[in-house]
Amino acid sequence: MANDASAVFDTLSPAVSKGSLADPFTPPVDSSLWRKNFLLGAATASYQIEGAVNEDGRLPSIWDTFSAIPGKVLAGDTGAVACDHYHRWEADIEMLASLGLEGYRLSIAWSRVMDAAGVPNRKGLDFYKRLLNRLKEKGITTFVTLYHWDLPQHLEDRGGWLNRDTAYRFADYADLMSRELAGTVDAWATLNEPWCSAYLGYGNGHHAPGLANDRFATQAMHHLLLAHGLAVPVLRANDPASQKGIVANIGRGTPNSDSAADQRAAHLFEVQHNAWILDPLLKGAYPQDLFELWPGTEPLVLDGDMQTISAPLDFLGINYYFRTNVASDGAHGFRDVPLEGVERTQMGWEVYPDGLRDLLTGFKRTYHNLPPIYITENGMASDDQVTDGHVDDTQRISFLKRHLAAVDQAIKAGVDIRGYFLWSLMDNFEWAFGYERRFGVVHVDYSTQKRTVKRSAEWVAKFLKERKARA
Ligand code: FCB
Repeated sequence: MANDASAVFDTLSPAVSKGSLADPFTPPVDSSLWRKNFLLGAATASYQIEGAVNEDGRLPSIWDTFSAIPGKVLAGDTGAVACDHYHRWEADIEMLASLGLEGYRLSIAWSRVMDAAGVPNRKGLDFYKRLLNRLKEKGITTFVTLYHWDLPQHLEDRGGWLNRDTAYRFADYADLMSRELAGTVDAWATLNEPWCSAYLGYGNGHHAPGLANDRFATQAMHHLLLAHGLAVPVLRANDPASQKGIVANIGRGTPNSDSAADQRAAHLFEVQHNAWILDPLLKGAYPQDLFELWPGTEPLVLDGDMQTISAPLDFLGINYYFRTNVASDGAHGFRDVPLEGVERTQMGWEVYPDGLRDLLTGFKRTYHNLPPIYITENGMASDDQVTDGHVDDTQRISFLKRHLAAVDQAIKAGVDIRGYFLWSLMDNFEWAFGYERRFGVVHVDYSTQKRTVKRSAEWVAKFLKERKARA
């Protein structure tokens, strides 16, 4: 297939298709990946790596509560210790820097830095100050996410994202953080993946706080987006030099057949996964098709909310993982029809790089005001083992190559993409899947906290070194 991202990459550079470290990463000479201002980095999130949940005045978050409920997280895992990054941050930054990674996307644990009355917690703030100062010293570009799902439990106790007031509390939190950290943050992302917070948290209950009601999901989404919209001007006022944006996960839905019903199902899948978030941000309105899928779930929207939500962004962060093959459910919805014989990851997710390119080029057509894009997450889980001090994660190298090729194709098709953060720097607490699913380019042995650089990280480091040498 001429437009298949992996095929194009292989044709142009057959050596890189084999996924072995011995094969140099040699993207075509005209690849945008060679541009030295194309930022290449890695991402993490507070609850997934920090641990130290009771230290230095940190208060419980909804993920502490949720993961303590039997049956909610695989094997009963919690983020109580995670990668112990709260204590090991210096060595972790050394590791990041030694790989030559140019960018680091991290998130702040709201419940570490502010109490229920809004009083700042100095010890928590100092942790992030030390971290960001060190990253700055190392010349690493910092992307800081304010909310990567770990809502303080005291706010959930007052309704969480179902309570409009949480949006105003978020603006207060953004105010504190941007006053305290101004000058050390290159880019602020208000929210990570509001789809997951709203739908998995309040729609199907797979994530904290574990509520399951479509009407809750649409209302939670509205308050999340309002929180974003209220925070952006605050961040602009306190830290004018940095970029301000939001991170959205996007999903590719393809129809199981050519039938009109399946085509419609695929359309509705993408409305539910993408337009639900991107339309309010970029068009100032919710997609009406969403309420065909979920009749009667229109959120309560007050005058002025949509203007607040759709204020211009400096960047849009995009997280992409897989595609879903869908068919009509016979009513007004869709159902997943898993494809046979396709490549999958440890999560069971299909490896489908073309989906990333196709969604990005589609957004460019749909949204005339599409902001510059950073791929803020992309990666895969595999059951990685350390053997003789090495981790041969060949599938991950191949995955990253193919997705980077898809990004290059989207850039060539005119989408303004400025960087790529792989998920994740190291194996970590994968939410409802606990520690079993390993997404890192660095392996973590949770019994010793030993980090082992995987082949994929060596491969990224090698490319970055070569790019630097050529610059
Ligand atoms: C995304 C999350 C991230 C990580 C990856 C695998 O949805 O933002 O924290 O868990 O999935």
